[in-house]
Amino acid sequence: MGVMDRPVFLITGATGYLGRRVALRAAARGRVYAATHRRPDEVTAGDAVALDIGDRTAVFDVVERLAPSVVIHAAAVNPGQGDDKAMWRINAEGSLHVAEAARAVDARLVAVSTDIVHDGRNGPYADDVAPTPVNAYGRSKVAGEAAVLDLDPSAVVVRTSLMYGLDEMDRGTAGFVERLGRGESVTLFSDVLRNPVSVDTLAEALVRLTTTDHAGLLNVAGRQVLSRDEFGRKLLAYWGISDDGLIRSGRAADISDSIPLDLRLLSDRAERLLGLTFPGVDDVLAAAEVGLS
Ligand SMILES: NC(=O)c1ccc[n+]([C@@H]2O[C@H](COP(=O)([O-])OP(=O)(O)OC[C@H]3O[C@@H](n4cnc5c(N)ncnc54)[C@H](OP(=O)(O)O)[C@@H]3O)[C@@H](O)[C@H]2O)c1
Repeated sequence: MGVMDRPVFLITGATGYLGRRVALRAAARGRVYAATHRRPDEVTAGDAVALDIGDRTAVFDVVERLAPSVVIHAAAVNPGQGDDKAMWRINAEGSLHVAEAARAVDARLVAVSTDIVHDGRNGPYADDVAPTPVNAYGRSKVAGEAAVLDLDPSAVVVRTSLMYGLDEMDRGTAGFVERLGRGESVTLFSDVLRNPVSVDTLAEALVRLTTTDHAGLLNVAGRQVLSRDEFGRKLLAYWGISDDGLIRSGRAADISDSIPLDLRLLSDRAERLLGLTFPGVDDVLAAAEVGLS
C-alpha cells in the first residue's frame, strides 16, 4: 500500500460489541468492508459482507475479491455464545483461515485475543508471557493466536480484558441486569481481578495499530485494576440499576477452578507505541460525568 493510498479495511466480527466501534473509526480513515455472520442489520459503517470464517473457501473468496490492505479480526465465539466445538471452529480454525487469506493478499493483520489465555496465577502479565489456558474458550483463543503468528509473524495479536462502553451496555452488565430484572440474585466475584477497557479506547488502539509495523503479542487494557465485583457495581450504578439486596459478593475460587483469578495485564508497551493512555474505569466514568467524553 502506498503512503498516499487510503486503506481498505476488512473487519471480521464487525457486528460485535467491539467490531461496531472499530468499523466506525476505520470508516473515518479508509474504505470499510464490515464482515458479518448472521446480523447484517447491525453493521455500523461500511459495506456489509456476509462471511462465515469457519468456512475456509468462503474466507478466501471474500478476501481475494475485496483485496483489503488491512484486516482487523474481531470475530469470535465468546463464553456463553456456543459450545466448545463452536469456540474451536471459530476462534481457532476461523482465525487460521483469516490469517491464511490475509497473508495471500499481503494485508496487514491485527487480531484480537483475550486475557483468558492466562491461568490467572501469575498476574500481572506482560505482553509476551506464554499462554496457560484453563478453559475451553482460553484454549481456542490460544490456538487462534498461534495460528495467526505462525502464519504471519508480522501480524499483531492484541490481548485485552473486559470491554465496556458508556453508550451501549456491555454483555456482562446486560446479563446481570436481565437476571436482576427477573428477581434473581447476582453474585459478583471479589477475587477476580481485571483491567477493564473502554471499547472506544480499544477500537482506537486497534485502528492505530494497523499503521504501525509492530509485530507479535501486545496487551491493550485499561490502567485501573478492579475486581469483577467492583467493576460490576460501578457499571450497574452508571446504568442506574439500584441494589435491592440482590447483588452479592462472592469468591470465584469457591465455585470453579476454570475461572482465572488474577488477569491483570500490563499495557504500558502499547500506550508508548501508540501515544495513547488507556484510562481506567473511574477516569472514563468521571469524564462522562463532566461531559467530556
Ligand atoms: N467482550 C469482552 O469483554 C471481550 C474480552 C476480551 C476479549 N474479547 C475478544 O474481543 C473480540 C470481540 O469480542 P466482542 O465481545 O465484540 O464479540 P461479540 O459482540 O460477541 O461479537 C462476535 C462477532 O463475531 C461474529 N461471528 C460469530 N461467529 C462467526 C462466524 N462463524 N463467522 C464470522 N463471524 C462470526 C459475530 O457476527 P454476527 O453478529 O454477524 O453473527 C459478531 O460480529 C473477540 O475476539 C473476543 O474474543 C472480548
